[in-house]
Amino acid sequence: MTVDPVVSALLAALGERAVLTAPEDRARFETGWRYGKGIARCVVRPASTDEVATALRICGEHGVRVVPQGANTGLVAASTPDASGAMVVLSLERLNRTIALDRAGRTVLVDGGVLLSQLNEALAKDGYWFPVDLGADPQIGGMVATNTGGTRLLKYGDVRHNLLGVEVVLGDGRVLTQLNTLRKNNTGLDPKHLFTGTTGVFGVVTRAVLQVAPLPKQRAVALVGCVDGPTVLKLLSAVEHELGDVLSAFEVMSKNALRAVFAHQPNLRQPFAELPRYATLVELSSTLPAEALALEAVLEARLGAFLETAGDAVVDVLVGKGEEFWSMRHHISESLRSEGKMLAFDISVPRSELPAFTNEVEALLAAEWPLVQLCDYGHWGDGGTHLNLVWNEAAIGKPAAEVIAALQPRIYELACVRYQGSYSAEHGVGPHNQRYYDRYTDPLVKQLCAVLGGFCDPAGRLGTVRLS
Ligand code: LAC
Ligand code: ZN
Repeated sequence: MTVDPVVSALLAALGERAVLTAPEDRARFETGWRYGKGIARCVVRPASTDEVATALRICGEHGVRVVPQGANTGLVAASTPDASGAMVVLSLERLNRTIALDRAGRTVLVDGGVLLSQLNEALAKDGYWFPVDLGADPQIGGMVATNTGGTRLLKYGDVRHNLLGVEVVLGDGRVLTQLNTLRKNNTGLDPKHLFTGTTGVFGVVTRAVLQVAPLPKQRAVALVGCVDGPTVLKLLSAVEHELGDVLSAFEVMSKNALRAVFAHQPNLRQPFAELPRYATLVELSSTLPAEALALEAVLEARLGAFLETAGDAVVDVLVGKGEEFWSMRHHISESLRSEGKMLAFDISVPRSELPAFTNEVEALLAAEWPLVQLCDYGHWGDGGTHLNLVWNEAAIGKPAAEVIAALQPRIYELACVRYQGSYSAEHGVGPHNQRYYDRYTDPLVKQLCAVLGGFCDPAGRLGTVRLS
C-alpha cells in the first residue's frame, strides 16, 4: 500500500478521528447538495482553531490544495473537491462546541462548525434566534463564507448585516483574530468583510461573533393571489408603507411552481378556487404578545383594504395557516426537481424590474423554447427570483446539457446586463457559476482580489473558485 505523505503528516499531527481516508467515509464530503461531485485525497476534521492552522500548514508544506467545507448544503458546488483526487477537504464539523451568548450585548460567539439549527436551539432557551432563515441547515462558518440571505432578509438582512467579528485561519496557517463585539467601531478597515461572501478562498472562518434577535412571540401569514407582477409590486409597496414595522417576509410563488408543489406533495392542498399567476406570501411578526397586538387581525384588515382597491387584480386573500403556506414555499425546489429536467437560477434585479424581466424571459421561452416551463418563485421583497426552468427531456428530444447551454447564458446576460442584476443573489460563487463570475465581474475587482489573495492565501491553495 502506498503511503500518502500528507495523509501521514495529518494523522501524526491531529490523530485518527481527524482524518478520513476510506471511500465510504469520504463520500458525504465529496458530493454537494445540488451540484459538485469530486474526489478527496482525504477529509481532515480539525476540532480547534489551532488544529485548522496545523492542517493548513501541513497541506501547505506538501503543496496540497484544500477546499474548506461547512455542512455541504451550498448550491454552487463551492464546498466539494474537484475530480483530481488531489485536494484535501477541510471539514469544520468537529469545531462545533462554542455557543457563548452575551445577553446584554445581544451577541453570540460561535464556532464555525456549529449548525444553524444547533445555534438556534441554544439561543431559543434565552428567547433569541439568529434570523438568517433558510430551508437548509448550514454551518455558521459556511454561512459567513457564502453570505447567505434566505426568506427573512427583508427584515433582518443577510449574514453580513448580522456579523460583528470573525476569527479566520489564512491559507498558510496564520490566524487573524478579529472577534469584534462592538456595533460601532469606525477605526479603519473592517477585515471581516474580506471573508464574507468570498467562499473561503481568503481563509477559513473558525469563529464568528453574531448579532442575534429576540424571538418573535407571534407571526401572522397570508397568501394573496395576484393576477400579475405589477400587482405584486403594488402589494409590496402597500405592505411596506402600512405594515413595515412588523413585515418579516414577502415571498412569491408562481402558478407553475405551485402546480408542481400540489402535484408532488399530497399533504398540501391547493387553497385558491383557481391558481393565480402569483401567490404572494406575506408574513408579519412581532415581539409583542397577541394581547398587546392582534397581528392577524391587523394583517387581515390591511390586506382586505388592499383587496378592495385592487379590484380584479387580486383574486383572493387567505389569512392564517402559516405553517401550510410556508410548507408550500419550502417544497417548491424539490417538487420542481420531480417534474423532469430543471435549470435553477438565483437571480436578483432591481425590485421594480422584476415583472419586466420575468416577462422578457417568458417571451423568450414562448418564442424559442415553448416546451420549457418557467416556474419562478422567490424573494421579491429583496428583488430575488429563482427563475427555475423545467422541461421533459423526451418531449424536447435534446440532451439537457444542450438546453442549458442555450438558455443559461442568455438569461444571465439579460439579468446582468439589460437589468443590471446579479447572477447569484444569495447562493454565492462556486464552480457552478465561475464562468459568469469571470464574465460579469469588474476587472479592477478581480485585480483587488488578486492582491488580497496574495496576502491571505499566498500560495493560492484554498477553495475551488478563482476570484482574481
Ligand atoms: C430557496 C432557495 C433555493 O429560496 O434559495 O428556496
Ligand atoms: Zn432563495
